[in-house]
Amino acid sequence: MYDIAIISGDGIGKEVMEASEYLLDKLDINFSFKYGEAGFECFKKNGTTLPEETIKIAKSSHATLFGASTSTPGQSSPIINLRKELEVYANLRPIKSYKGVNSIKNDIDFIIVRENTEGLYSQNEYIDDDKVIAERVITQKASEKISDIAFKLAKNRDKQKKVTCVHKSNVLKKTDGVFKESFYNVAKKYPQITTEDFYVDAMAMYLVLNPQNFDVIVSSNLFGDILSDESAGLVGGLGLAPSGNIGNKHGLFEPVHGSAPDIAGKNIANPVSMILSTAMMLNYLGESETALKINKAVEKVISECKILTPDLGGNAKTMEMTKAIVNELI
Ligand code: NAI
Ligand code: MG
Repeated sequence: MYDIAIISGDGIGKEVMEASEYLLDKLDINFSFKYGEAGFECFKKNGTTLPEETIKIAKSSHATLFGASTSTPGQSSPIINLRKELEVYANLRPIKSYKGVNSIKNDIDFIIVRENTEGLYSQNEYIDDDKVIAERVITQKASEKISDIAFKLAKNRDKQKKVTCVHKSNVLKKTDGVFKESFYNVAKKYPQITTEDFYVDAMAMYLVLNPQNFDVIVSSNLFGDILSDESAGLVGGLGLAPSGNIGNKHGLFEPVHGSAPDIAGKNIANPVSMILSTAMMLNYLGESETALKINKAVEKVISECKILTPDLGGNAKTMEMTKAIVNELI
C-alpha cells in the first residue's frame, strides 16, 4: 500500500490529475490518496498558495503527484516552495520523440537534469535605490550533487553515456564558474562517461540542430527550466513532457507544463505528460514493471494516431485519450 499525496492545483492541473487518478485506480497496486490544496484558487480561499497542511500531507506520503498551479500576483511559487520543503534537489525531465508525432528528428532520447534548489529561482529579489536585484545563488555543494545525479543516470542509461553541462560561465564567471568546475570535479569519478559543456545560448541552438546528439544534460535551475520547454517543443509539445523531482527522502512528480489557461476548462489537455510523470513515480516506488507497461501503452496509443488530443492533431478529450491508454494496460 502506497500513500500518495495528490495536489491538483489550478486549470488543466485538475484535468490531467483526473487522468492520473483514473489510471492508478485501474492498476493492480493498492494506493491510499491524500489530497492537498495549492495554487491560485487555494490562495483566494485560504490566503496562501501552499498551506502547511499540504506540505504535511506531502511529507508524510510515499510520493507526491502535483498537477499545475497558476501564478498568484505578489506570491512566491507554490511548486518551487514545495520542492524546497521536500528537499527534492534534482528535477529529471526526460524528452523523447514518439512515432506518430511531428518531431524535429525521430531519434531523440535525452534527459535534462535541472538543479532544483538554488540558481536564479532562489526567489530573493529586492530593490536597492534605482536597482532591482535578483539573487543568483550557486553553491559547490548543490552543483556537485546535481552533477553526480547526472553522471549516475548516464551510467545506467543504455545510451551514449555522455553528460553535457550547460552554463554561461563566460559572463556569469563566478556563479557558473563554480557550476562548471563542480561538474568537472565530479566527472573524475566517472571516467567511463564522456563529458562536454556548452554555453546556454549555443546549447539552445544545438538542441534544435542536433537533438539526437544528447544523452544527459545537466544545468542550473533557470537554464534547465527554459531548455526543458524548448526540448518539449522539439518532440511535439508540453503535453508529452513529464518530470520527477527527487531528493534523499521524497519524490514529487509533475508534468513540465503549467495550468494552461488558454485551454483550461475545455477538457482537451493532453494527459500524457501527467501519465508519464505518474509512471516515473511508480518507478521511484519500485514498481518499474508497471511503469514500463504504461510507457509502452502511451507509445502505442500515440503511434496509432487514432485517439489524440488537439495538441497532437486529434480531437479527443483528455479522458478519451486516458481511457485509450489505460485500455492497453488491461
Ligand atoms: P503552460 O505550460 O501552462 O502553457 C504553455 C502552452 O502549452 C499553452 O499554449 C498551453 O495550452 C500548452 N500546453 C501546456 N500543457 C498542455 C497539455 N497538457 N496539453 C496541451 N497543451 C498544453 O505555460 P504558460 O501559459 O506560460 O503559463 C500558464 C500558467 O501556468 C501561469 O500562471 C504560469 O505561472 C503557470 N505555470 C505553472 C507551472 C507549474 O505549476 N509547475 C509551470 C509553468 C507555468
Ligand atoms: Mg517551466
